[in-house]
Amino acid sequence: MCDVSVVQGRVEQFHGRQPSADASWVPTYSGAMVSVSLSTSKPTTARAEALVLGIRSEDDHDVFAASLEAVGFTGEKGQVVTFPGGDLTPARVVVAVALPSEPTAEQLRRAAGEGVRAATKASATTVAVALHPADIDEVGAIAEGIELGAYKYDTYKSSGKGKGKKKAKKKDVELKSAVVLSPFARQIAATRAVERAATVARAVNAARDWTNTPPGDLRPPAFAEAIDAHAGETVKVAIWDEKRLAKERCGGILGVGAGSDAPPRLVSLTYDPPDAKGHLALVGKGITFDSGGLSIKPGSSMQTMKLDMAGAAAIAAATVAIAQLELPIKVTAFACIAENMPSGHALRPGDVLTLRNGSTVEILNTDAEGRLVLGDGLALAAEGKPDHIVDVATLTGACVVALGERTAGILGNDDDFRDQVFAASKTTGESMWPLPIVEEMKEKVNSSHVADLRQHNPKPAGGTLFAAAFLREFVGDTSWAHLDIAGPSFNDDSPRGYTPRGGTGIGVRTLVQIATELAG
Ligand code: BES
Ligand code: ZN
Ligand code: ZN
Repeated sequence: MCDVSVVQGRVEQFHGRQPSADASWVPTYSGAMVSVSLSTSKPTTARAEALVLGIRSEDDHDVFAASLEAVGFTGEKGQVVTFPGGDLTPARVVVAVALPSEPTAEQLRRAAGEGVRAATKASATTVAVALHPADIDEVGAIAEGIELGAYKYDTYKSSGKGKGKKKAKKKDVELKSAVVLSPFARQIAATRAVERAATVARAVNAARDWTNTPPGDLRPPAFAEAIDAHAGETVKVAIWDEKRLAKERCGGILGVGAGSDAPPRLVSLTYDPPDAKGHLALVGKGITFDSGGLSIKPGSSMQTMKLDMAGAAAIAAATVAIAQLELPIKVTAFACIAENMPSGHALRPGDVLTLRNGSTVEILNTDAEGRLVLGDGLALAAEGKPDHIVDVATLTGACVVALGERTAGILGNDDDFRDQVFAASKTTGESMWPLPIVEEMKEKVNSSHVADLRQHNPKPAGGTLFAAAFLREFVGDTSWAHLDIAGPSFNDDSPRGYTPRGGTGIGVRTLVQIATELAG
């Protein structure tokens, strides 16, 4: 009963009131995760409504051969076919997924995601997944693919009980449980891999939920409260309101938030285990809506600008996951949260702001707001003298032009650390690629006639590199990497692999991987 009324309550709130400037309701991740277990059963004996079956070219397809042929399965890359289980298996439906002969962990993750989505489309709520993992890491990758692929954002869909014309589309079927078939099923390491996958996937799905929440329902105070609620007791959380931000000289966050009637926030999260082997600082861009401010965006560019808090979502969710995994590393994270709106109070081109580290910044385009909130966050992070800082931000459209919509840019001031981040991204399957901060950007950033720094380069060439050169001014000597996730933070195409439509949660898994490696 609860579920339905809560969901409908949210729908009513959304349609029936003005978005609130305070945190009158807090979207929390429902945590409706698939429960994943392990079994040594064979595909022909596993009990579930659907069977996801990986078919490799060299397999003899034994009992399934005739059915595969009947539905035209050729094994072509990415092919997914569905047929009735009949008396071949206890499953009502079989989803066959083409696999290469030696799939990578990422290919298994994607196949698992694709497979469970096809299974839920066939109305299955339980699934057995037979993708032939070759080792325990692959068992973990399959579990991750299942939990990420089964994600659905339907908080604002009514349950189909509306009347007459307004009758809403029914919610999709949700996957409840999955069993991964593997000869390693009885090994304790396999169970641990599945548990780790669940913790990490829960973090990714929380970041996705926050990114998908309509921006009127996730204004800065509500987002800060949502992070606090998600963190629970696992990490220490402090929320700075606008008064505290002024006292702490966070002129960038205050300047960007000035145009909105929902005040800005800085949320810091601290996880400090007694056996910490190092200290990682994280900083995230948390613009709950980016209208561009007075340098207002054209309507078409504004449509998806609720995504502009995905960096803050990623660093907050990753910090909680790192703590839940009890990794022996200290993490301090800073979510820099504001709403970028035009109004009589808004920041103007020509204004000068003083950021946390005392640098003055000449504003030339209020749509280049991310670097201003991050300037405060990076300075705060550097004050704690961590071994490394990573910031995550939907920072520049130029990065989408350079690398496409599915790949994040990695920039920084330490080539070795940048390479380590790149390697971590390859392990997790989050697509990222290194970009340089070319030499000439330094003088451009320092070319203001009225302040220490210039916020915006009127020439668009190398926009991602200029933005990173600006951020570099705030980290001092600390080893730092910057992830520009403007492209891959949001998928407005159809779902693919384990990537749903909408918020993707990119960054979370690579941050957890970096922390895992730094923890030794
Ligand atoms: N939030 C945007 C960047 C963005 C663009 C994210 C597309 C996701 C998809 C950022 O604040 C912005 O508006 N950047 C400007 C900077 C410009 C004014 C220098 C841009 O990229 O156009
Ligand atoms: Zn902007
Ligand atoms: Zn922005």
